Amino acid sequence: MVPTAQAFGIDIGGSGIKGAPVDLKAGRFADERLRIPTPEVSTPDAVADVVKQLLDHFDVQDGTPIGVAFPAPIKPGKPLDFMANLDQSWVGVDINQLLSEKTGRTVRVVNDADAAGLAEVNYGAAKNVKGLVIATTLGTGIGTALIENGVLVPNTELGHLTLEGKDAEHYTSDAARKRKDLSWKKWGKRLTKYYQLLEKYFNPDLFIIGGGVSKKSDKFFPHIEISTPLVAATLLNDAGIIGSAYFAAQQQDALPADNA
Ligand code: BGC
Repeated sequence: MVPTAQAFGIDIGGSGIKGAPVDLKAGRFADERLRIPTPEVSTPDAVADVVKQLLDHFDVQDGTPIGVAFPAPIKPGKPLDFMANLDQSWVGVDINQLLSEKTGRTVRVVNDADAAGLAEVNYGAAKNVKGLVIATTLGTGIGTALIENGVLVPNTELGHLTLEGKDAEHYTSDAARKRKDLSWKKWGKRLTKYYQLLEKYFNPDLFIIGGGVSKKSDKFFPHIEISTPLVAATLLNDAGIIGSAYFAAQQQDALPADNA
């Protein structure tokens, strides 16, 4: 059961779908999170079933804001027009409508990197940072969130910039590191090229690196040679869940007073 001043967040990823109730005042989980593996064929119906399972498991009550972080650009009221790392049958689906219908609740979907950015702005490494922050998530893909003076510019897809003639995320994501069995140093060289590209075009004041691998930042940060300050995401891999819960509460005008 999820009491008031809480919202529920779900993070849909390439390998796992994770959910937890979130304490919006503290910006942390209110209960232990549950992770269910992403269905091998990650079709809309299969993923929606897992979302329903998570809501049922936590007995989420009607009226609780429910946010979902999803790895594609999201325009409310419009069907998805791009899908990099889940089943291609998502293209053309109105994800807010589908998940709401399948679960019988109002579900609010936000891009996963934007969710992470929102969490870092409100509770983590981007809190009170002036200027332009670029939050990146390194996982199956590369997600990006642009935050200017605390305000998110949603749906940037800078993981798909071209680097070395390839889609940058195929060359530089954490999945690319694992696939190619790259040493931290070799991966660091690729990351240097990627972050230098972002520096050149955006002149940010701070980079945040999130995603599961951010807990090993001491291993690869020393190999990233750039002039912009770089920090690990404070909320590490929890940011998608916390940020999507925040997003849903914000949309529903249900943020606790000091967070509104
Ligand atoms: C997707 C983005 C997403 C990122 C991280 C990319 O492949 O296009 O929308 O934010 O992966 O999951």
